[in-house]
Amino acid sequence: MKKPFNPFVINTYQGKAYFCDRENDLKMLISHIENDRNVVLYAWRRMGKSALIHRLFEELEESKNFETLYIDLLATQNMQEAIQTISTAIYEKYGKTETGINARIQKLLASIGAVISFNPLSGSPELTLGIAQTKQPELSLKALGEFLQSRKKRIILAIDEFQQISDYEGTKAEALFRAWVQQIPEVRFIFSGSHRTLMEAMFTEKKRPFYQSSQLESLQPIPLEAYSKFIVEHFQKAKKNIKPESISKIYTWSRGQTYTIQLVCNHLFANYQTVNYTNVETVFNQILVQQQSVYANFQKMLTRTQWNVFKAIAKEEPLQNPLSKDFLSKYSLGAASTVSTALKALEKLELVIKENGNYLVHEVQLARWMARL
Ligand SMILES: Nc1ncnc2c1ncn2[C@@H]1O[C@H](COP(=O)(O)OP(=O)(O)OP(=O)(O)O)[C@@H](O)[C@H]1O
Ligand SMILES: [Mg+2]
Repeated sequence: MKKPFNPFVINTYQGKAYFCDRENDLKMLISHIENDRNVVLYAWRRMGKSALIHRLFEELEESKNFETLYIDLLATQNMQEAIQTISTAIYEKYGKTETGINARIQKLLASIGAVISFNPLSGSPELTLGIAQTKQPELSLKALGEFLQSRKKRIILAIDEFQQISDYEGTKAEALFRAWVQQIPEVRFIFSGSHRTLMEAMFTEKKRPFYQSSQLESLQPIPLEAYSKFIVEHFQKAKKNIKPESISKIYTWSRGQTYTIQLVCNHLFANYQTVNYTNVETVFNQILVQQQSVYANFQKMLTRTQWNVFKAIAKEEPLQNPLSKDFLSKYSLGAASTVSTALKALEKLELVIKENGNYLVHEVQLARWMARL
C-alpha cells in the first residue's frame, strides 16, 4: 500500500498506521471467528464498519491461519449480480497464475456458466455469467461454496452492504443465502451493512430466514481518549500541534462519527501548523459550504412537513419528544398526527434515527448545516 500524503485518510483502509484504535472490536471479532460464530456488524453510517473489516482481514491474513474474502453487494440488484460479485472475488483471489488462469478455478467458473473476458479499454479481466445460471442460483452458490469449503485454511467471508439482498426482485434471496450459509458450516461469515435498521430487521425478525443465525455486534464511536491520542501523535510526527480542547470540540461536533472526525482532521492537518479554536471553526464552515448543494437537494426530496420536521430536529437534537406541544409550536409544525406521519417517513429513510430515546438527524454534517438555517 502506498503511504498517504495526509495521515487522516478519508477514503478507504490504508493500513494499521492510519487506523485509530478499535482494539476491543478487533478482539471481539477474532473471538467470534475462533469460536465458529457468524457475526453481524452494524452501526450508524460512516462509523467505520468496512474499514474495521479490512483491518481485521489484514490481521487474519498475517496470522497465516485464515484466508479472507471481502464482497461488497452495494451495486448488485439481483441474485445473478450477487453471484457474479462472489465469483469475481474468488477469481481475483485464487484464479490468477503466472501462466494464466488456475485450472481448478477455470473448471469452477465453467460449471456455473461464467465467462472471463478482457475489457478492451482497461485490459482487465471481467467475469460475466451466462443465462443458464439465472434459473438456478442455488446450484451456482453450491459450487462456489464447495470450493471455499475445500480450501485447507479456514475461509472468512465478509459480505458488506448485505441489506441489499432484501431489495432483490423475484427471488427469495434471504432464504437462498441462508441455505448457502448452512451448507458451508466451515466458512465463517461476517455480514455488514450501512443501513442499520434493515440489517437489524433481517436478523431479528422471527419470520425471516436469518433470524437468530448470527451474533449481532453494534459498532460504537471510538472513545474520545483513544482518538485524541491518535490525532495528537500524527500531528506531532509532522511537527504540528493540536490541543486536546480542539479535539474535544471536533469530537462533539462530529458526534463521534469516524468519517467526520477524519475529514475535519484531514483539513486541519493540511492547512495549519498549530491548530487553534478559530481554525477548527473555519474548517467546520468550509466543510458545510462544500456540501451545500448536496444538502439543498434534501429539501426537494421531501414534502414540506417532512422538511420542516427534519430541520426542527436538527436544531433541537437530541430531541426527546417530537410530539410535545412546546416543540410543535416553537417550529409551527401543525398537528401532532401530521408530524407523527412525517417522522415515520423520515425514520424509514434513515434520515432521522432514534438513539437512547432521542431523535437525531442521521448525517451529522447535514444536521450541523440544517441547524444553521
Ligand atoms: N479506526 C479508524 N481510524 C481511522 N480512520 C477510520 C477508522 N475507521 C474508519 N475510518 C475512516 O472513516 C471513513 C468511514 O469508514 P468506513 O467506510 O469504514 O465506514 P462504514 O461504517 O463502512 O460506512 P458506511 O455506513 O458508509 O458503509 C473511511 O474514510 C475510513 O478510512
Ligand atoms: Mg461501509
